[in-house]
Amino acid sequence: MWTAKDIPDQSGRMVLITGANSGVGYESAVALAQKGARVVMAVRSMDKGQKARQELLKRASGASVDLMALDLGSLKSVRAFAENFNAQYDRLDVLMNNAGIMAPPYRQTEDGFESQFGTNHLGHFALTGLLLPRLLETPKSRIVTVSSSAYLLGRMNFEDLQSEKGYRPTRAYNQSKLANILFAQELQRRLDRAGADVISVASQPGYAVTNLQNDQRGIANYTLYPLLRLLMSHPADVGATYQLYAATAPDVRGGDYYEPKRTLVGEVVRSEMNARGKNAADAARLWAISEQLTGVTINVSVRERVS
Ligand SMILES: NC(=O)c1ccc[n+]([C@@H]2O[C@H](COP(=O)([O-])OP(=O)(O)OC[C@H]3O[C@@H](n4cnc5c(N)ncnc54)[C@H](OP(=O)(O)O)[C@@H]3O)[C@@H](O)[C@H]2O)c1
Repeated sequence: MWTAKDIPDQSGRMVLITGANSGVGYESAVALAQKGARVVMAVRSMDKGQKARQELLKRASGASVDLMALDLGSLKSVRAFAENFNAQYDRLDVLMNNAGIMAPPYRQTEDGFESQFGTNHLGHFALTGLLLPRLLETPKSRIVTVSSSAYLLGRMNFEDLQSEKGYRPTRAYNQSKLANILFAQELQRRLDRAGADVISVASQPGYAVTNLQNDQRGIANYTLYPLLRLLMSHPADVGATYQLYAATAPDVRGGDYYEPKRTLVGEVVRSEMNARGKNAADAARLWAISEQLTGVTINVSVRERVS
């Protein structure tokens, strides 16, 4: 079974991980730093980030790890982050779109988007667009977007993408995770058309015991999740395996999707997406809407242009 120990040497590579202070994002940061990558931990709370960085350095002493503030629920913050990143670093080998929230009570992001659609999808859409110049300049770079098996239950409700007519927390989560899959695929199609050697890959961590479930209030919190945690879960470091494989294994191809063999647990496998995940028309429609909502237009071309 492939584990983080099998990650090839990452010396000289620059990795950016969103939500790197907790859960599978934190464990990805530790594993990549241990293998010699320079890691930028993008965090929404600098206090939590400082603590996580200190803990990380205990496990990867001497590692090169920077901390930067990023709130994916604020386009202003995403733009400021990208500006700082592009000014400070001249390469980006791996962008790991990892941060996420699951099934919170209804709230809106700073820009008025439903929080899960806004944070999990739109924030990462804008971030990727604004960092694409660096990714295109870096040979064989990768964008890894972390989804969930919940995408299997997701439907794109284009009539009410932002749950304005009615909010069901889990339904909105599932849709946001399907949006991650559609985005990763559409990005790869555009990279292919442009002849770029950047690849876009998706993954999902199975059931990893992290802070993700803390915000939920539903009945599943008292029934399904404790049961699954007992029977079919793994710790966060194992949950990070799938995105680490996507980020570093030599045989990964653009458009691939990596997950645990038994969906919630098991060895890393390359999986087929379901029909909704592969729906190119939905992906193109979501892309156009995302450009409109975020104001970030992503033109992937050999000489890329981001406005
Ligand atoms: N754990 C699982 O079983 C599981 C299953 C399927 C998919 N996933 C996916 O895995 C990814 C990581 O989740 P996790 O399980 O590691 O959960 P986690 O421990 O709760 O970590 C989530 C991270 O995202 C950050 N975050 C949340 N909102 C943000 C925002 N507005 N801006 C920037 N960062 C933000 C959190 O920051 P704070 O610490 O400040 O809140 C935290 O660092 C998510 O995309 C999730 O959907 C997880």
